[in-house]
Amino acid sequence: MNRPIGVFDSGVGGLTVVRALREHLPNERIIYVGDTARAPYGGLSAETLLTYSRQIVRFLLNKDVKAVVLACGTTSSTAYEALIAENPDIPMVDVIRPGVAAVERLANQRLGFIATVATVRKGLFARLLREAYPDINIKSRACPLFAPMAEWGLFASAVTRWAAETYLRDWRGNIDALVLGCTHYPLLTDVLGEVLPNVYFVDLADETAKKTAERLREGGLLNDSSGPPLHEYYASGKPEIFGPIAEKILGIPCKASKINFK
Ligand code: DGL
Repeated sequence: MNRPIGVFDSGVGGLTVVRALREHLPNERIIYVGDTARAPYGGLSAETLLTYSRQIVRFLLNKDVKAVVLACGTTSSTAYEALIAENPDIPMVDVIRPGVAAVERLANQRLGFIATVATVRKGLFARLLREAYPDINIKSRACPLFAPMAEWGLFASAVTRWAAETYLRDWRGNIDALVLGCTHYPLLTDVLGEVLPNVYFVDLADETAKKTAERLREGGLLNDSSGPPLHEYYASGKPEIFGPIAEKILGIPCKASKINFK
């Protein structure tokens, strides 16, 4: 029961999900992996993404996690089904499938969906929404520079603003809500709000955290010990780059350790 939850992403983006997990499940211990040496994931093939995800899941299972959260839209779209088939005894939660619930009360509005190239190509989120709401009005677009910019901590820089303007200016006035289909993108909402004023931003993290809480509750896996849990952070790239950006996102000390995947 008091085993940790494993959470992974290509880098710091999944920490937006950790933020929501800490809110919904304050007693749970989290082991986080940011695969920064191989980021960004958005331009990789489904096969490579599955290979990387398998390596990370193996690492997390060796740490005795009781559940795994794919805090990444890209692996949620491409690797989740294979991972759950291969690990039937471990609850796994992705960000795309629970995210459909986040759009429920916006289903009659003009929606935009932005994510990585791999996620947009896969089209899973738009397909699930169309199944749930056949008349839905949604357009999708890949914004491949956003994740690397967020990875470098460029949350509100001029270069990020330029990229947002370039990618999204033609949607100004044409959408009411924008679904952030990559977990790095909630880090850029200041800039996105300048480029798309009066647009409501939909973050997938909250529904993902709720789904994780539900799966733990159903499985009798909730942590019953009290006291602040100790989290662990691993980065496959430079931990000294990952750590300070993680601290900025989570607002708590995040000393990361180095992990090597081969
Ligand atoms: N944060 C990830 C996602 O949600 C990956 C972004 C990337 O590495 O390209 O898709």
